[in-house]
Amino acid sequence: MPADRCPTGVGPLDQLLGGGLETDGLTELYGEGGSGKTLVCLEAATRLALADRWVCYIDTEGVSVDRLEAIAHGHVEQVLQRLLLATPKSLAEQTSAVSAACSLARDGKRPVGLIVLDSATFYYRLTLSSDEEDAGRQALGRELAELVATAIASHLPVLFTNQVWRNQRTGDLEPLGGSFVNHAAKTVVRIDRLGGARRRAVLVKHRSLGEASAEFRITSTGLS
Ligand code: GTP
Ligand code: MG
Repeated sequence: MPADRCPTGVGPLDQLLGGGLETDGLTELYGEGGSGKTLVCLEAATRLALADRWVCYIDTEGVSVDRLEAIAHGHVEQVLQRLLLATPKSLAEQTSAVSAACSLARDGKRPVGLIVLDSATFYYRLTLSSDEEDAGRQALGRELAELVATAIASHLPVLFTNQVWRNQRTGDLEPLGGSFVNHAAKTVVRIDRLGGARRRAVLVKHRSLGEASAEFRITSTGLS
């Protein structure tokens, strides 16, 4: 495994990523609701926390403690001790949470191993087609820029999730935020729902790997 990769603990996804998340850049996961984006974030956070690294986890969706318990396999207390959880209630609070996470990572007092932003675009989406749209786009752009700078400075993986919209012209599901979100993420993975618990991760952008895909399943204890 290359030294600059941080495994998520989801085997097929790590293989797809050439060993795991890149440690000096942003990885974007996008896909429709229920595709498993949050589960991947929880798997990665759990793995890092159990390796005694701090995880800054910014959750805009109300993360399920039951799912975390299932994924942590009886070690949930240990995981919670290393999780720095922020639960912003607006885009402005999300921006503050991102700044706080970046400061923690950069000051080096605690060994932060991962920053998670799930979802980056929940509050941003609420600004679309309103008077707040430009401000929302600027706020999200600044957050992603700060995360990029922190990932590079601290040699740290950053994992963020993105919601999708249906392009009426092509019929495709596309990630929100357009080109600036796509440029901020060095790695982009789309997760497709197949039948039942089956999911397919598609590597749509990577600095050193070509387009490829891998399948995994959602199980009662996480992802396999
Ligand atoms: P949004 O946040 O709504 O965009 O979705 P997401 O992509 O983050 O999905 P999430 O990671 O929350 O995945 C939830 C999926 O896991 C849903 O499809 C659930 O049906 C499924 N799920 C949750 N618990 C279980 C379980 O115990 N067994 C199985 N097989 N599936 C489960
Ligand atoms: Mg989710």
